[in-house]
Amino acid sequence: MLPFQEMGSALIGGSWVQASDGRHFDVANPFDATTLAQVADCGAHDAEAALSAASTAFDTWSTRTAAERSSLLLRWHDRLVQASETLARTISLELGKTIRDSRAEVSYGNGYVRWFAEEARRVYGTTIPSPFPGRQLFVTREPVGVVAIITPWNFPYAMLARKIAPALAAGCTVVVRPAEDTPLTALYAAQLAIDAGIPPGVINVAPSSRERVSELSDVWMRSDAVRKVSFTGSTPVGKGIAQRASTTLKRLSLELGGNAPFIVFDDADVDAAVQGAVAAKFRNSGQTCISPNRFFVHQDLCAAFTDKLTKAVSALSVGDPSLESTDIGPLVNAAAVDKVQAHVQDAVDKGAKLLFGGQRLPQWGPLFFQPTVLLGLTVGMRIFHEETFGPVIAVMPFSTEAEVLDTANQSQAGLAAYFYTRDSARIWRVGRRLRVGMVGVNEALISTEVAPFGGVKDSGYGREGSYLGLDDYLETKYMCLGGLSR
Ligand code: SIN
Repeated sequence: MLPFQEMGSALIGGSWVQASDGRHFDVANPFDATTLAQVADCGAHDAEAALSAASTAFDTWSTRTAAERSSLLLRWHDRLVQASETLARTISLELGKTIRDSRAEVSYGNGYVRWFAEEARRVYGTTIPSPFPGRQLFVTREPVGVVAIITPWNFPYAMLARKIAPALAAGCTVVVRPAEDTPLTALYAAQLAIDAGIPPGVINVAPSSRERVSELSDVWMRSDAVRKVSFTGSTPVGKGIAQRASTTLKRLSLELGGNAPFIVFDDADVDAAVQGAVAAKFRNSGQTCISPNRFFVHQDLCAAFTDKLTKAVSALSVGDPSLESTDIGPLVNAAAVDKVQAHVQDAVDKGAKLLFGGQRLPQWGPLFFQPTVLLGLTVGMRIFHEETFGPVIAVMPFSTEAEVLDTANQSQAGLAAYFYTRDSARIWRVGRRLRVGMVGVNEALISTEVAPFGGVKDSGYGREGSYLGLDDYLETKYMCLGGLSR
C-alpha cells in the first residue's frame, strides 16, 4: 500500500537517484523494529549535486510570477490532501506516532502549504516619499536564494511543509535534509510536489544517516550559494548551525528546544486545565517542542488537579500506533526512552512522588514508556531544566503569582507557555511577563498555520507560519530612481 519502492532514493534535480557511492541506511518502524526501507545515504558529492540543482532552478523559479508559484503550490496542496491517509500512515509507520496524531499532523501541514500558496500573491513592496526633488524611492522584496532546510523527526511532514511552502512561495529553491529516523514522509511529500508540476531542482531532498550528516551539511554550511538555513531541532545543534552559518553570514530560522511551563492558578477551571494538560503533554507521546514540561499548580487546588489528572492519564490507551483507539505509541528510539527513564529516576531520587506510571512497557516493545505523573517537581531536578520529550508530567505546587512567574521564567528555553485562570487582568499581566514566544491561555493546543510559531532565548529565533512567515525568506531591497524632474 505504501509507495516505499521509490522512497529509497534521494531527489536531486527532479530525478530519483541513489547516493553517488551507493551507500544507504535502514529506516525502521519503532513499533515492531521491522525495516521499512533502505534509503540513499547522501554524502558530500550528493550535497553538491543537490545544491547545484537548486542554484540552477533558482534562476527560473525566482522569476516566475507570484501567481504561477501560487498555482503550483495549490496543485501540490491538492495532491497532498488526496494523499493524506497515505502520508499519515507513513508518518505513523516510521515514527510510531499514533494514527490519529499522524492524521492531525497531515492536516496541520497541509494548512501551511495552502496558507503560503495564498500568501505567495501578497508579497508587497512600498514607496517612500522622497526628501529630494526628482527622485522616487521604492522598497521591493526578493527571495533570499537557495535555502537549506533541516527537519526534525517528531513532525516529519508538518515541519517540512512549514519550511518548504514559504520558501517556494517567496521564490526560493531548497535543499532538504530530513531527519534520519523519518525520511520517508519527506520523500513521499516531495514525490507529490513533482507530480503536481513543481519544476525539477526547486525541491531537492538528500537524506543521510546520522554518521554522514556532518559531511552532507558541511557542504551546505560552507557554501556561499546557500543564503539561508531553516532548522528545527535541538538547541545545541541549532547553536552549532548558527556558528557555522556565521562564516558566510547566512540568514537563519532556528526553532529549537522548549521547556514550557503550564500554570494552573487558584481561580482556574480545573477540568479544563486537566483536559488541556493531557492534550498538550501527550501529543505525539510527549515528543513535541511546545509540550508543557513543568507543571505549576496552585497549592489550593493541587490535590483536585492531580487526582483528576491521574485518572485521565491512567485511562490513556498505550499500544499499537496504527489502531484508532491508541493514545500513546512507542518513542522514536532507544535514546529517547533512556532519557525519559533517567528524568523520572532523577526526580524520584530527589524526592518526587510517583502518582502514576514511571515504568517501561516491555510487553509492548523496548520503546514504550508508561504515561507518568510525578508530584513534587523542584528546581534541582533534571526535568526542570531539560526538555524530557516524553510522556511525563511533573507537578510543582506554588502559592503566589509572583513566585510562579519567577520560577516559570527560570529556564533558558523560551518557546511556549500555558496558563489557566479566569481573571482577565491576570491574563494580560501574566501573558506579558512570561518570557516565551507563544502563550496559550485557557487553551493548550495553540498551533495553527495562521499564527506565528517560534521562540526566544535558547529556543531560537525567526517566526514560521502566519502573515510573518514569508519574511524569513525575503530580502528587502531599496531602489532610488533619480533624474525624474529633468
Ligand atoms: C514541534 O514540536 O517542533 C512543532 C510542534 C507544532 O508545530 O505544534
